[in-house]
Amino acid sequence: MTSTAPRRYHITTFGCQMNKADSERMAGILDAMGYQAEEDPYLADLVVYNTCTIRDNAEQKVYSYLGRQAKRKQKSADLTLVVAGCVAQQEGEKLLRRVPELDLVMGPQHANRLGDLLEQVQEGNQVVATEPIYIMEDITKPRRDSDISAWVNVIYGCNERCSYCVVPNVRGVEQSRTPEAIREEMETLAAQGYQEVTLLGQNIDAYGRDLPGSTPEGRHKHTFTDLLYYVHDVPGIERIRFATSHPRYFTERLIKACAELPKVCEHFHIPFQSGDNEILKAMSRGYTHEKYRRIVDKIRHYLPDAAISADAIVAFPGETEEQFQNTLKLVDDVEFDQLNTAAYSPRPGTPAANWEDQLSDEVKSDRLQRLNHLVSTSAAARSQRYLDRVEEVLVEGQNPKDQSQVMGRTRTNRLTFFNGDIEQLYGKQVSVKITDVRAFSLTGEKV
Ligand code: SAH
Ligand code: SF4
Ligand code: F3S
Repeated sequence: MTSTAPRRYHITTFGCQMNKADSERMAGILDAMGYQAEEDPYLADLVVYNTCTIRDNAEQKVYSYLGRQAKRKQKSADLTLVVAGCVAQQEGEKLLRRVPELDLVMGPQHANRLGDLLEQVQEGNQVVATEPIYIMEDITKPRRDSDISAWVNVIYGCNERCSYCVVPNVRGVEQSRTPEAIREEMETLAAQGYQEVTLLGQNIDAYGRDLPGSTPEGRHKHTFTDLLYYVHDVPGIERIRFATSHPRYFTERLIKACAELPKVCEHFHIPFQSGDNEILKAMSRGYTHEKYRRIVDKIRHYLPDAAISADAIVAFPGETEEQFQNTLKLVDDVEFDQLNTAAYSPRPGTPAANWEDQLSDEVKSDRLQRLNHLVSTSAAARSQRYLDRVEEVLVEGQNPKDQSQVMGRTRTNRLTFFNGDIEQLYGKQVSVKITDVRAFSLTGEKV
């Protein structure tokens, strides 16, 4: 820090929307400290890897990046190396032993404290911040990637204990933000020109359980549905999205709120994980495939065109071919708009990782391929409903493969392309007649 040029920072983000939101807040803190953003991680003076550990391959990725940065640091002591996020939380001190060049290891609950932690680093300390804390309300201004669409955290952490999942270990217990703080953030966003927000929680249906207050009927006063009624009319915000829903807690009241509140988009992301009741039980998910199907039926009763997406895991320990077939059957019956699929990956500190009936890599990749194949054919079938319809598309960029086209999303979150000039259309809601449908995207023309 002998030169007067501003220090440059780079953040690489892995993993889910929570990590993206955390990275945006960390970038905002660094901006406020006078750092300058730098695209190239190998030119930056401060490098943050905001990491994910949901599956082993996500975790391994970060070690190869760290290896290169550690070499750089051996030559230039001025480089500050930070590992944030879920691998940091999981590994803690162990990371320092593995990569002694690191300056700071910080868990996701500490994202808002980046400034303080860097001060400790500047005093010459190697810092590990992984102790559970109460997440302080964010008073800094995030540096957001988009100026149209923004993430808004509503609940941090997760109190579930799905037997395969590291999230509760690394994200800690549920902490809901107050409805007032959430609405205030949305109002600030609207004043800055944002039109779309996505409300975020690992299990968004758990929102409010930890806030005080109940209704005269004994229901919690601050359910997620109540939150939607409380924030739905923020002027300027045109679209409200939310994720992730848990089938165990999903309510009919939430579907009705979506049907009733014009700004709440008709898209539900409800991971089912498996279509087999025995496997669901072993996963500790707390519902059956019958219950899941009833949720889908209810959604389609109130909102026939709503998009439904989900996550699923194949080759969970002990999953038989027949049990896997039940997952295929569920996917075939429901016709998801989109499905994130993954082969089971044993994670440290989770019960299922210690079970003896782990399946081979061959079975994993075979089942994953078969499921993915079914997903694309069934999503393509589901896409047909868009043909010749007029959809509202919020334009967010140019088609990277065709400069004469712009792209955006329908209310149901389908990526849509059409001919147009980005200079004129950026950030506009445009009515688009759909002329061509594919499994996961649409093409149309402006009407
Ligand atoms: N809170 C969300 C999901 C969070 S993790 C929920 O409850 O559904 C995102 C997805 O990663 C999960 O839905 C699951 O499909 C997948 N996943 C989690 N742990 C996994 C593991 N050990 N192996 C493979 N996939 C996993
Ligand atoms: Fe993981 Fe289950 Fe919590 Fe989702 S609900 S984050 S899968 S423990
Ligand atoms: Fe990954 Fe952590 Fe999200 S493990 S999926 S970044 S909560």
